[in-house]
Amino acid sequence: MTTEPIRPGRTDVSEHQPIDLGALPRDFAWGTATSAYQIEGAVDEDGRSPSIWDTFAHAPGNTAGGDHGDTACDHYHRWREDVALMRDLGTNAYRFSVAWPRVVPGGDGPANPKGLDFYDQLTDALLAAGIEPSVTLYHWDLPQALQDRGGWPERATAEHFAAYAAQVAERLGDRVTQWTTLNEPLCSAWIGHLEGKMAPGLTDLTAAVRASYHLLLGHGLAAQAIRAAAPGARVGIVNNLSTVEPASGSEADLAAARRMDGHVNRWWLDPVHGRGFPADMREVYGVDLPERPGDLTTIAAPLDWLGLNYYFPQYVTDDPDGPAPRARQIDRPAVARTGMDWEVDANGIETLLMRLTEEYGARRLHVTENGSSYPDAVAPDGSVTDPERTAYLHAHLAACARAAHRGAPLAGYYAWSLLDNFEWAYGYDKRFGLVHVDFASQLRTVKASGRHYASVIEAHRAAHDEGR
Ligand code: FCB
Repeated sequence: MTTEPIRPGRTDVSEHQPIDLGALPRDFAWGTATSAYQIEGAVDEDGRSPSIWDTFAHAPGNTAGGDHGDTACDHYHRWREDVALMRDLGTNAYRFSVAWPRVVPGGDGPANPKGLDFYDQLTDALLAAGIEPSVTLYHWDLPQALQDRGGWPERATAEHFAAYAAQVAERLGDRVTQWTTLNEPLCSAWIGHLEGKMAPGLTDLTAAVRASYHLLLGHGLAAQAIRAAAPGARVGIVNNLSTVEPASGSEADLAAARRMDGHVNRWWLDPVHGRGFPADMREVYGVDLPERPGDLTTIAAPLDWLGLNYYFPQYVTDDPDGPAPRARQIDRPAVARTGMDWEVDANGIETLLMRLTEEYGARRLHVTENGSSYPDAVAPDGSVTDPERTAYLHAHLAACARAAHRGAPLAGYYAWSLLDNFEWAYGYDKRFGLVHVDFASQLRTVKASGRHYASVIEAHRAAHDEGR
């Protein structure tokens, strides 16, 4: 761990466009985010069972370089150091996920006390450091035992998810108020069951649509379970949304953009807002939903807040012979891209925050993830200067503040990610951290972007102190 104290960023705030810090409330949550499988390691310690991501990552050809999360950032052993890093950055919130296979190794049935103990002590350490824990119950690591019984395409998985949510909420609910049921169900359903690029690696539209339905049902059932176990809980769901524009003015591209918007945005937003599953998309998929009376009401359980993960905009063209939704993202020439090849467009985060506010009537919003991967160079003195990530962070914070100024009820921002980590199918090459991790030695080094984030947080505090 770097022992150097964190000083204001080398990239001075004033070098960039101004951020309207006054538009962000005094109690704004300045956070970082991670997820269990991407950072914890210790995959077979203290009773944890395999998840679908252990299975997927260990199967040949599924991840870059055959990378897997066996050790990752070794956070399971180094969490104290990581909490100290968060405190040094000046953050006051931390979004992490609980590993279902650590807490309920069988998928359903008894809880594993040692699994719960880990998150219990992490929660206490965060609170002692003045950092509010924000707990995500599902960040893609389904216990393999449940996959063996059919996984998300089966209704029972949604029920087991609610039972597990109750077990966690009973243990942490006296100290944790900020709860997320699902992280990006789009990825679980579409990328995991339709595109086959994430666990469980299926390419089956019927399985994907059934999974999407049971994920949202699981969200609704878990929301009830969390509230029953922890009456003060504030429950939300986290979606990764994109702005979607047609690649041309042709009728075919306009229709394709509408289908893509349905696929990535409306399918996930409409049901939880009591609007049911979009009729046009039901037709596009042509798969019967496994509906039972009352399900839509369960899925539309009132939300205390809504989480937005934003990375890139989408420009799409008609793809009549392609898989659902028969629309394809195109690469626009001459635009800035991150190391993931994702287009950089900070305005998109403002557009989406306004859409959630105006079209969906969101009463409380958190940007639960936003960040960028670029190849980092470690200088001979050990420092990491990452001007592109710094600029990305700054531009997106400025866009968030613009949305807040326009009336979006934005309560927090969580940078993805605290640490470089296991970036799923892309392995360890893609680095999103504000803190660099040398995976051989596990040395952590705060990057210039991390220092910049610290300076913005500090400036926000100062702005509010002056205004008192
Ligand atoms: C999101 C995931 C997160 C991370 C970032 C880059 O889709 O929620 O785990 O992989 O992308």
